Amino acid sequence: MPTKLPKLPNILRGKDYIETKDWTVKEIELALKTAADLKKMFKQGKPHRYLPDKTIFLFFFDKSTRTRNSFEAGATQLGAHAHFIAAETSQVAHGESPKDMGIILSSYGHAIAIRHDLVPGEGNKYMREVAKWANVPVLNMQCDVDHPFQTLADLMTIREEFGKNLRGLKIAVSWAYAPSYAKPMSVPQGLITLMPRFGLDVVLAHPPEYKLMDSELEYAKRAAKENGTKFEIVDNMEDAFKDADIVYPKSWGIESLFHKPEEALKLSKKYKHWICDEKKMKLTKKHSIYMHCLPADRGYEVTDEVIDGPHSRVFPEAENRLHTCKSVMALTM
Ligand code: CP
Repeated sequence: MPTKLPKLPNILRGKDYIETKDWTVKEIELALKTAADLKKMFKQGKPHRYLPDKTIFLFFFDKSTRTRNSFEAGATQLGAHAHFIAAETSQVAHGESPKDMGIILSSYGHAIAIRHDLVPGEGNKYMREVAKWANVPVLNMQCDVDHPFQTLADLMTIREEFGKNLRGLKIAVSWAYAPSYAKPMSVPQGLITLMPRFGLDVVLAHPPEYKLMDSELEYAKRAAKENGTKFEIVDNMEDAFKDADIVYPKSWGIESLFHKPEEALKLSKKYKHWICDEKKMKLTKKHSIYMHCLPADRGYEVTDEVIDGPHSRVFPEAENRLHTCKSVMALTM
C-alpha cells in the first residue's frame, strides 16, 4: 500500500513565479521548507507524486543543462510530465504572440515555464505577457532580470551550510572574467535582491562597465534598508572577498552590449585578472564557501583548485536546483 503523502498548503496554488520579489518572505519560506521535505523524501527513496497526470511546458529560448534536466526529472518524480519546447522549433520563431501561446498552452496543461534570458529588456516582458493571458502558473526558468529558481536553490544551499539565521553573514557577489559568452545579468541581480531579505549583508563588485540594471540596484538598496542588512558596491574583487562568508564570483555581460558580442568580448579582456583563485579565497573567512550557478568557465572565472577545493559547494548547489524546482511546481501547479 503506498503511504499517504503529507498535504501541501494551497496558498501558492495557481501563482506565477517570475521574480523572487513577487513572493513574500513567508511564501519563499514555504517553498524552502517544501524543498527540504521533498529532498528528504527523494533521498529516502519515498515516492512523492504530488502532481499525477499534470503537464508542464518548458519553453526554452536559450540553452540549459541544470534547469532543463532538473525540471524534467523533477516533474517525473512528482508524477507529472514535462514537455520540452525549443523556441526555434515552435511557431514563436515565425512571430506567434505570447498572448496566443499563453492561452493555448494553458488549455493543454497545468503550468508554463520559460527561459528567455539573453536580451536585456525582452525576457521578463515576454513572460509577464504570457502570464497575463495564461490561466496556469508561469514559472521563470531565467530571464534578463532574475533567475528565481537559481537563487532559491542558492538560499537553500547557504542555509544548509550556515543554518536558518543568516544575519550578520557577508556574501560577496562579484563579476569574473569569462571568454565563452556574455552571460545574463539575472543571477547577480537575483542574488542582490533576494539575499538582503533573508539577513545577509551583500557586497557587489564589478569593473565600471558591468553595472547591473538600475531597477535591481534600487530594489537591493531598499531591501537592505528595510531588513536592517547592508548593501555595498565596490570596484575590485579583493575588497568584496575580505572576511566574506560566501563568495559568488561569476561573469555577466554589459547591458548595452548584448547585441555586440565581439565588442563586449574585446572589452572584457581588460579584466582577465578578475578570477577567483586561492590567493583571493585566502582573504575570506576560514569557513567560507565558494558558489557558482554553473556553467563556470574553468581557468577564467575560477581556478580548478578553488572550484574543486574544500570551499566549493557548487555540486550541492546544483543538486538543490532539483529540490527547489520540484517544490515550486508542487506548490503552484
Ligand atoms: N545555472 C543554470 O541555470 O544552469 P543551466 O543554464 O545549465 O540551466
